[in-house]
Amino acid sequence: MSVIQAPRGTFDVLPADAARRAVLQSHAERILGAAGYRRIETPTFEPTELFARGVGEATDIVQKEMYTFDDGGGRSLTLRPEGTAPVCRAYLEHGMHKLPQPVKFWYLSSFFRAEAPQRGRYRQFWQVGAEAIGSAEPEADAELIILLAELLDAMAVKEPRLRISSLGTPATRAAYREELTAFLRAHKDGLSPEVVARIDLNPLRAFDADDPRTRETMAGAPLLLERLAADDVEHFAQVRELLDDQELAYEVDPTLVRGIDYYTRTLFEFTSDALGAQSAVGGGGRYDELMQQLSGPPTPASGWAAGIERILLAAPEPPVARLAVDLFVARAVPEAGRAAFALAAEARRAGLSAQLELAGRSLKGQLKQADRLGARYVAIVGDTALISLKDMESGDQRELETQTVIPAILRGSRLV
Ligand code: HAM
Repeated sequence: MSVIQAPRGTFDVLPADAARRAVLQSHAERILGAAGYRRIETPTFEPTELFARGVGEATDIVQKEMYTFDDGGGRSLTLRPEGTAPVCRAYLEHGMHKLPQPVKFWYLSSFFRAEAPQRGRYRQFWQVGAEAIGSAEPEADAELIILLAELLDAMAVKEPRLRISSLGTPATRAAYREELTAFLRAHKDGLSPEVVARIDLNPLRAFDADDPRTRETMAGAPLLLERLAADDVEHFAQVRELLDDQELAYEVDPTLVRGIDYYTRTLFEFTSDALGAQSAVGGGGRYDELMQQLSGPPTPASGWAAGIERILLAAPEPPVARLAVDLFVARAVPEAGRAAFALAAEARRAGLSAQLELAGRSLKGQLKQADRLGARYVAIVGDTALISLKDMESGDQRELETQTVIPAILRGSRLV
């Protein structure tokens, strides 16, 4: 029988990676918490319909990337491919529209998409996300963008680049969609077969194409940004003004498209040139119609999500942090096991970090292990009432009564 491996596109978070993730999480907690965002966690799976209605039937996510299964009772469930639709579902389910608005959430969870795995693209990946539900103000959009910029800055993400655009309202978009569809039909010869095949399903995706001929054709295509209604133009101008005031650099990219259908008005994405093909570190936008799409009352909202793996790939590797060990408890003879165990437990209760010999090493091997761990003190428990305490910094060693060992460490260490 062969050794079992993790499924393709998944990975283990090993302790060294976990430490970097913990740093990211604490930055998110601090930055988002200070702006009034509170943590939310939703279930790992949801009714499939939530994503079909929320994310959009025509999107790649819903068409080919969802892990969908029958729960055995004829209900179709799906491992969440994203977090916005679930947060909106929770907002509606718990009647949060009755709370003072907006209600601000943040989350850090894993998500699932059956994509072709490559560097920075996984089938189970993690996102940190923020959603401000119940505000139509441009300030909400600008606040969210600035918070993500701050998080990327705190993680020292290399070469971050921000692109923004506006999608206007669904009505503007519907009219524009017709105009664009007509343009694409009239220029079929200059488009790749994949784009032609998707003209009716999702004409906007034509701007996304990598094919050089398609790109050339699309350079002459009408732009949604030029067709926005006056109040959408004004909203977008206000978002930009707030970003300008904060001196946050961005590029207005009228062809910015994202793979999710719920967006209205503000749209944005941060990329890092330090990443390869999968350069999107995080993005989001306004989704004023999503709540109605989910049978809720009209509720304007805005948010973003950023890929944890991509942030870490685009951030410098920090020096490997050593786990602080105040005390290593060694035993000189096997019979000292219980006394050694008790001493380690007492040390932890006193607030020290303490490790116990657990691998049956010789005394010499135990001292070596204490050294490897960088332990500040080693207590050697023998078969007498006295314990030998060694200061690993100075090399001094003293014989002490059992009950005076922990006080001696506390007095001598930087903890007091
Ligand atoms: P998204 O652009 O689909 O947006 O995903 C956000 C981020 O998650 C991406 O920029 C990327 O960093 C990361 N990501 C996505 N797919 C993968 C993958 N297969 N492997 C690794 N990382 C990945 C959303 O999910 C929206 N819910 C964002 C949002 C929140 N919009 C409004 N509120």
